[in-house]
Amino acid sequence: MQVVILKDALEVANYGAKLFCQQLQIKPNSVLGLATGSTPVALYKEITSLYKQQKISFAQASSFNLDEYLGLSGDHPQSYRYFMNEQLFDHIDINKSHTHVPNGNAINPIAACQDYELAIRQAGGIDLQLLGIGRNGHIGFNEPSSSLSSRTRIKTLTQATIDDNARFFADDEYQPELSITMGIGTILESRKVMLLATGAAKAEAIKNMIEGPLSASCPASALQLHNDAVIVIDEQAATLLEHQQFYKQIEAQNQKLQQKLADLPR
Ligand code: GLP
Repeated sequence: MQVVILKDALEVANYGAKLFCQQLQIKPNSVLGLATGSTPVALYKEITSLYKQQKISFAQASSFNLDEYLGLSGDHPQSYRYFMNEQLFDHIDINKSHTHVPNGNAINPIAACQDYELAIRQAGGIDLQLLGIGRNGHIGFNEPSSSLSSRTRIKTLTQATIDDNARFFADDEYQPELSITMGIGTILESRKVMLLATGAAKAEAIKNMIEGPLSASCPASALQLHNDAVIVIDEQAATLLEHQQFYKQIEAQNQKLQQKLADLPR
């Protein structure tokens, strides 16, 4: 795991946006894995701004989102499809018919999960998967006890996650307790993954993910198995890490190496 510790949420968003730029420069028709939640909002703002400055284009890209609430259709304001349109897709040049979010309103949701897996495979697999992390260590909606080799499926949300996400729903509004989510096995097949986390509330999950044992109790710890996972966090989310200084040292060395490579004669 590459652990990048930055000053604050803004630096995290900018770092993430830069990685998207690099990915699309190397491969303009990249298949992007996208995420929802509060954390990626700043990243999507930065990406939108880079697009407006013509520094990034999604014209040839396609995307697959991690998850969706079961029972909400894409035009419901609390659905993740609606969120993605509002926060990103409506502001960039991506072809909307190339953006995929699990269908929370499918007549047969089990078949919809299988179709989603198939669509990812047919697109050639995900090149760069963006992730957030829940306070209980979930990625997508893979809650603690999820199989580390799970595929896209229906997942029951824990009370902790329902409570955490209640802030997005009005008091008298229906809040789903089920979701469709890419599995951990699905996520691990992405060629590169980038997990963003900011704020003290995420510090324990971050500690468990990076320094805890590989365990279904902390689904994000499965990223320890990925050979190209970058974890981008702010100082507050890093506070419980025992080896903080070591990660910073590695990053400094990485940057020196990158500089050396960039200076090589072509
Ligand atoms: C939801 C999403 C996750 C996200 C998590 C954390 O449960 N399904 O993909 O990572 O929330 O969200 P936030 O960034 O708002 O803390």
